[in-house]
Amino acid sequence: MSLRNTALHYGTVTKTFHWLTALLIFTAIPLGLIASDLPYETQEQLASKARLFSLHKTVGVAIFAVALLRILWALSQTKPAPLHPERKAETLAAETVHWALYVSLVALPLSGWIGHAASEGFAPILWPFGQSLPLVPKSPAWVETAAGVHEIFTKILFAALALHVLGALKHAVIDRDATLARMLPGRPDVDAPAAGHATALPALLATGIYAVGLVLALATSEAPEDAGTPGPALARGTGSWQVQEGSIAITVRQFGGEVKGSFADWSADIDFAETPVDGKNGTVRVEVSIPSLTLGSVTKEAMGEKYFNAEAFPTAVYTADILSDGEGYKAEGTLTLKGNEAPVILPFTLAIHGDTATMSGATTLDRRDYDIGEGQTDEGTLGFPVALDVALTAQRSE
Ligand code: HEM
Ligand code: HEM
Repeated sequence: MSLRNTALHYGTVTKTFHWLTALLIFTAIPLGLIASDLPYETQEQLASKARLFSLHKTVGVAIFAVALLRILWALSQTKPAPLHPERKAETLAAETVHWALYVSLVALPLSGWIGHAASEGFAPILWPFGQSLPLVPKSPAWVETAAGVHEIFTKILFAALALHVLGALKHAVIDRDATLARMLPGRPDVDAPAAGHATALPALLATGIYAVGLVLALATSEAPEDAGTPGPALARGTGSWQVQEGSIAITVRQFGGEVKGSFADWSADIDFAETPVDGKNGTVRVEVSIPSLTLGSVTKEAMGEKYFNAEAFPTAVYTADILSDGEGYKAEGTLTLKGNEAPVILPFTLAIHGDTATMSGATTLDRRDYDIGEGQTDEGTLGFPVALDVALTAQRSE
């Protein structure tokens, strides 16, 4: 049996690539579908979902590598002629589907991989590379768009695969020709077909189908604003200082990886004077819109009942006194989040130049104080400490 293709037969290398790809694809698809559908109400469900997604991504990246090798190989090979080139429409359909399958072997894993690289932390790829990709920023908008593209491309793959497999069965059962047999191990007798002539039309059609899919996905993607865009979108608050821009960011540990997020909408009422009155330099009241949180690829999950329960508790409030603390200051007060109150001390540094103040502070919260991640008692799945980083600049308004 020849390693290389001939004008009538597929060689062993092509066949091996074909069936290895089929095996990997028919593994990746159920993993993707099941992982997407799995609920994540309990710790076990979330852990299973992450594990299945990790496997899905790992198999998907393997498909990408095998596809590149396979395409390089195919480029060096003769393509065995269709057995019935006189059936023009059927040949065109079959070849368009082959091209669509080739495109999907590259475009589909790539879209998934870009989405993964743009997200933070959830369900790592198990290869020792590929968590990030060059040119792909960590961006919720990219994640959302890549997910839309990935989903539409899976639909195109499903349609192409259905036609491909039905076509192969038709050749085997109805036409009773050697089309399927020559892709299987062995070397069937193949009657030399009448000469047909290859055209670029199938390749163009297949690429066109993907181009339309891509445009549709981009047009319908509801990409959120990028997180990290500085500045609260709510009213900037009242008080003796007006917030100009700033960020409230959190970092959690999920499955051992860091997931970073930030709140886009919040407001702060700040009264502050350098000279203390009754031992206090001022007060602060911060309101944070919980639904404005973006948290890596788990934003939607974070809004759920067991986590922030954003629907029932859309706002978190922090009220505190501002006290001097050695070289810097601290805000000492209470954070009310998801209906639970707990004391929070936020040490911060403050630099005042003229009427502009720049503050930056950090502290660590314990998610259990606020019932976030109810039932998630395993720290390895979702860490207890949540790092909070606050930075802002404010303008003196008096
Ligand atoms: C040829 C390879 C691949 C196939 C056939 C495939 C197929 C699928 C399928 C069928 C789904 C479920 C879609 C739905 O629920 O509508 C899915 C979802 C997903 N896949 Fe893949 N996938 C592949 C490669 C990858 C790779 C390489 C990654 C990441 C490294 C990835 C990441 C994801 C993610 C994160 C989802 C969840 C939904 C989303 O964000 O789009 N996939 N995939
Ligand atoms: C049960 C599943 C499958 C069956 C029965 C099957 C059958 C076949 C057959 C019979 C051919 C030869 C067609 C011809 O000579 O004109 C073929 C070619 C091809 N198949 Fe499949 N296939 C399956 C799965 C897949 C999968 C999962 C992919 C990739 C996503 C795929 C991609 C291709 C491509 C690209 C060719 C053209 C090969 C070339 O000419 O270089 N197939 N398949």
